[in-house]
Formats: sequence, C-alpha cells, structure tokens
Amino acid sequence: MSKRAVSTQQIHHPYRAPEGWDAHPVGVFKASTVLFKDTADLHTYRPRDGKSYRYGLHGTPTSYTLAARIATLETAEHCLLVPSGLAAVTLVSLGLLRPGDEVLVPDNVYGQNRYLSESLLPQFGITHRFYDPLDAAGLAAMLSPKTKLVWLEAAGSITLEFPDVLGIVAACKQQGVLTAMDNTWGSGLAFNAFELAPGLGVDVSMQALTKYASGGADVLMGSVCTRDLALHERLNHMHEHLGYGLGQNDVELVLRALPTLELRYRAQDATTRALAKWMQARPEVAQVLHPALAGSPGHEYWLQTSSAGAACLFSVIFKPEYSAAQVDAFVDALELFGIGYSWAGPMSLAVPYDMSRSRALPSKLEPGRIVRFALGLEDVADLQADLAQALSQLSAGA
Ligand SMILES: Cc1ncc(COP(=O)(O)O)c(C=O)c1O
Repeated sequence: MSKRAVSTQQIHHPYRAPEGWDAHPVGVFKASTVLFKDTADLHTYRPRDGKSYRYGLHGTPTSYTLAARIATLETAEHCLLVPSGLAAVTLVSLGLLRPGDEVLVPDNVYGQNRYLSESLLPQFGITHRFYDPLDAAGLAAMLSPKTKLVWLEAAGSITLEFPDVLGIVAACKQQGVLTAMDNTWGSGLAFNAFELAPGLGVDVSMQALTKYASGGADVLMGSVCTRDLALHERLNHMHEHLGYGLGQNDVELVLRALPTLELRYRAQDATTRALAKWMQARPEVAQVLHPALAGSPGHEYWLQTSSAGAACLFSVIFKPEYSAAQVDAFVDALELFGIGYSWAGPMSLAVPYDMSRSRALPSKLEPGRIVRFALGLEDVADLQADLAQALSQLSAGA
C-alpha cells in the first residue's frame, strides 16, 4: 500500500482500548504507583522500552501511545516525550555530549539553545562554536575530532534562514559527527528530517510539541525521535536521570490535536505565504523573510529538501527610516495579533526583535527593525485588513 497522508495515519494509528470499550479516543491513564503482582514480579527487571510499566514517571499507556504516534509522524523508530521543547533541546545536548566535547550550533538558533550552549554546557566542560547555516563548506572546515554534535534548525528562529541541510548533514556524516535537528518548524510535515535525500538524514529530530502538535497554545511538551537504538538508549538514560514527567491530561490534549495537525499546518502555511507576499509589496517594508519566497536567505536550500510545506512564520524588516518606537507602535496598533512568544496556536502573534543584539547573520539581512509574525487560524482577509490599518498608521506617523 502506498504511504498514507499524515492525517490518515494519525486517525487510524493502532490503539487497543480495554476489552468491551470499543471507542477510538485514547484513554487517559494516570498513576505514580504501578502495582506489582508480588515480590517476585517486583524483582523482575522491566526495561524502559516504551512498552513495560514500572512507575508513572517512566510512561503510561497514554504517553506510550502519543510517543508511538510522534515516531510515526517523523518516520522514526523511537520517541522520548519531555515536558517542553526546551527540555527536549537540553536532553539532546546533555545526553550526547561529554566533558571535552564540542558542539556546533547555528548562528540563528532558537535563543534558549544558544543560551544552553553558552551558559550550562560549559559547566560540564563542553565547548561550543556558532556556525553560518548557509555555509556548509565553512561548517565542514570547523569539524574537528572534538566535535561530537552539530545542531541544525530549519528554518532558523526569527530570521528564518533555511540552512544548507543537505551540505551540512553530508559533511557531518563524512566525519562521523552526530546531527540533531530542531524540527519544530517542519513538524514532520514540511520535510522528512530522517530522509532529507536518499540515504541522508539527521540522527536526532526534536520538536517543541508545544507548537503544531498541540495546536491549542495550551500545552508545553517536547519530543526527541531517533531511528538508531543505541542512540535512543543514550538519550533514554539521560531522560531517566533528568526525571522528566508529563501530565497525562496534557498528553491527551496533544493526542486530540494530532488528527487535525496536517489540516492546520497546511491552512496556516497558506495564510502565511499569502500575507508574506502581500507584505513584500508594501512601501514600508525593506525585506520579508520566509523560506518559500525567492530571495529569502536559504530559499534554494528549502527548494532542495521541502515537500512544499512551510510553517506559519514570517519576519518583516522595516525600512531603516522607521524607528524602533514607530515599529513598536505599529505592533501595538494591530488588533488581531497578540504580542507574545510561541507560535502555531489558533491566535496570530507579532513580536518586534532588536537584531542589533543578535548574532543571526545580520550581514545577509537589510538593516532595520524586525518583527516576527506567527499566523494563526483566523480568516486571512481579516488579518490582511488588520495589517493594512496598522501599516497606514505607521506610514502616516513617519
Ligand atoms: C524553534 C523552537 N524550538 C524550541 C522551542 C522551545 O519550546 P518550548 O516553548 O516548548 O520550551 C521553541 C519555543 O518557542 C522554538 O521556537
């Protein structure tokens, strides 16, 4: 049978309800204590294999079902669930790095991943360097025997450059260096992180399930997927040390949201591209950053790997004649866009960033104040009208 669409897979994913309860929604099982039959049973080893039950912290029928569905989404063999996207980032770096190792992190990486490399990892004797994700040859030249992990993020946070994923992953494979991708933007839908090209994929794909998988802006959760068992076991070991647990009601919310994941992803993608193109034509705008737009940094790499999908984010660099205060006032004038972090929920969001304090490839971007938009599920014409009214206030005040 040909490969089924994500929505079909998620709705028909195998699940066995308790005998006599023939219903499709997954049950919510909660417990800290899991009872053993007797002391002999207690003394029998139960592995952390995603099937056995030993203690609520290690997994429940509900969380094992979600882990299996996320693994299917990513075409992975193994999936560990954690209480946030940041917890997933931390699990990967702490699980795969040891004192004396070096990690390479893209310049435009999610801010908390940068902060982890700069602040926490040095306490464990782990060093880091930042690399330009558009320059695979430059990255290849940085790899040394100390380099044990290379992070990728496609597309990068805020400035949304799409990295040369094929070049970077190929260079790492050649040198035997592990690769981990923050795959929150792609969410298992824009491209397959484990099969970027025939025989070429990352070793670890992590997601902030907080974003698309949850979809409701009401859950924090993360996932770490692998195909290789030995790698999964290293991560599983660290997962146990960190004591990562999940609220089963949150797990249920994500299970409920998965059947609509693909529909939401495609709808938000369409809205985002329509508004990004519309913004490009506005006189107040110097540059619109979105990997599907020709001229956006990394567009050619997005074309190489993508199954034509893109997430709900674009950023706008306003012309330098607009001051930071004026751009802030533009954001304040928006009526349908909330001001706040995160993305992929039902409500659209807008956040201005001060790029002078960022190291994210400023040389390849137009100078000016940047605003990142995260498009929600509102009607596209309503969002465009709102942007238009706030832009007319901006140009009137310039
Ligand atoms: C790309 C990316 N990765 C990871 C995270 C962290 O996710 P969480 O908020 O669940 O910790 C975020 C959050 O904004 C993100 O944008």
